[in-house]
Amino acid sequence: MDRLPHSLRLAAAVSTDLGAMYVADCLDVLRELPDGSVDLVLTSPPYDRQPRYGNGETYLREWYSGYFLKTTAEILRVLKPHGSFVLNYRSRRHRGERGTLQYELVFWLREQGFVFAEDFIWGKPSPPPGRFNRYLKDAVEYCFQFAKTQQWQFFPEACLTPARWDRKDVERRKRLPHNYQRVDEPSGQGRKRVQAGPDLVRPSNLLSLEPEFLPNPTRHPARFPVSLPDFFIRLMTLPGQLVLDPFGGTGTTGVAAQRLGRQWLMSESDQAYVSVLPDRLAKGH
Ligand SMILES: C[S@@+](CC[C@H](N)C(=O)[O-])C[C@H]1O[C@@H](n2cnc3c(N)ncnc32)[C@H](O)[C@@H]1O
Repeated sequence: MDRLPHSLRLAAAVSTDLGAMYVADCLDVLRELPDGSVDLVLTSPPYDRQPRYGNGETYLREWYSGYFLKTTAEILRVLKPHGSFVLNYRSRRHRGERGTLQYELVFWLREQGFVFAEDFIWGKPSPPPGRFNRYLKDAVEYCFQFAKTQQWQFFPEACLTPARWDRKDVERRKRLPHNYQRVDEPSGQGRKRVQAGPDLVRPSNLLSLEPEFLPNPTRHPARFPVSLPDFFIRLMTLPGQLVLDPFGGTGTTGVAAQRLGRQWLMSESDQAYVSVLPDRLAKGH
């Protein structure tokens, strides 16, 4: 197995047999990585106007059109030809309007050379409470999949999910001809079921995942639930492959990758958030 997560010149703050997390600016880490060395990049950068990371940055539009696009150019360089970049992002409302940065980012990344492969919607069944005047509670976020080439790798069979059809629908699907192949059997039955379904099916691009409710000792304002990186890692990588999260926060992507036997590499600029990672890795969540 390639030892890439441990081979950087920077000193890792946390490391395991499979991965390492660096307290560092992500551009510094990205620039150390060789071309075509990463199978999946999965990250959530700070959302616009997020004031709570304590680094003095206000994340205005210029941050995305400047600094962030430098990181995405590096991400494109370090991805393998079959690699994908999953960008979790949601523009905030501002002065009575929904921000449009989320859509602008799609156009900017296409201009950089990414293939805009898919827009997954992450729906939260129990969004945080609040009063929003003329708006409803915000219960969706985007997970945009950008690929390096049209030949991105993809393993939906690793993410099969229970079917939610009613009984009548299940019976109808059991009789569909494409669920069978013809066989030459002495019994004369002449056909046999070939699909995993109808009980297990491919998931859709609408993800229904609760936000993270586990204790939050560092009061990080925007953690992934482990189920989110877990889904994309299974869908887009094989065991032993390398997953990178440049805006790593409390290390959720690494926790999921470690559990799934993937190599992982993360950076995070704030040491306080990284401090919870050893305990999370030990607990597996
Ligand atoms: C949306 S949060 C990521 C949360 C993470 N997915 C988790 O589950 O904990 C974005 C993170 O990026 C970090 N960050 C901001 N600028 C950075 C930079 N230049 N390099 C590395 N990390 C940075 C912030 O401190 C913040 O923790």
